Amino acid sequence: MIRPAKLEDAPAIARVHVASWQSTYQGMLPEEFLESLSETGYADRWKRVIGEGSSRVYVAEHEGEVVGFASGGRERAGETGYTGELYAIYVIDAAQRRGFGRELVRSTVAGLRELGLDDMIIWVLRDNQPARSFYERLGGAYVRAQPITIGSVTLEEVSYGWRRLDDVRY
Ligand SMILES: CC(C)(COP(=O)(O)OP(=O)(O)OC[C@H]1O[C@@H](n2cnc3c(N)ncnc32)[C@H](O)[C@@H]1OP(=O)(O)O)[C@@H](O)C(=O)NCCC(=O)NCCS
Repeated sequence: MIRPAKLEDAPAIARVHVASWQSTYQGMLPEEFLESLSETGYADRWKRVIGEGSSRVYVAEHEGEVVGFASGGRERAGETGYTGELYAIYVIDAAQRRGFGRELVRSTVAGLRELGLDDMIIWVLRDNQPARSFYERLGGAYVRAQPITIGSVTLEEVSYGWRRLDDVRY
């Protein structure tokens, strides 16, 4: 059900990425920004990320279709106390609340361990309450808030952290 992403998965990951951004961030991000997201552009980007190999990327498959993905690796912004980061996790609307998210986190956590990392931080838009509930359910502790500029708007994002990967509560 969950497996490491292959280069050939890049277009499917990009489809999930764009569809999920458009549904999740509708009303939070400008319509024209969401409409401008390009599957082709993201497919190239995901191909690069998967090929390069410094982050771990996993896909959730259901009946032969990619319905979700997650990626993680070394913490990117120099946050004190954290060396690992869950960069992204997206499950298409129709497949949510069936455990794919939880299992994607489990695989990403295993990937972080393989990279020698032992903690994890995640950033999420402050107003993305469903995702915040998900991280809280997994035992994430609120860390802090900061502004984030996406397209033409500046919003607030918040972080959740697990000081030890063993603290993730599935
Ligand atoms: C957030 C997301 C990754 C969670 O994945 P998922 O497969 O839907 O979640 P799971 O089925 O694994 O949920 C595990 C538990 O988390 C909690 N949870 C998940 N979604 C929740 C929601 N919308 N509201 C409240 N709690 C939620 C529940 O406790 C759930 O267990 P339960 O269904 O038995 O009650 C997924 O819903 C998603 O992709 N959302 C849109 C994109 C997004 O916001 N990504 C995160 C960006 S930072």
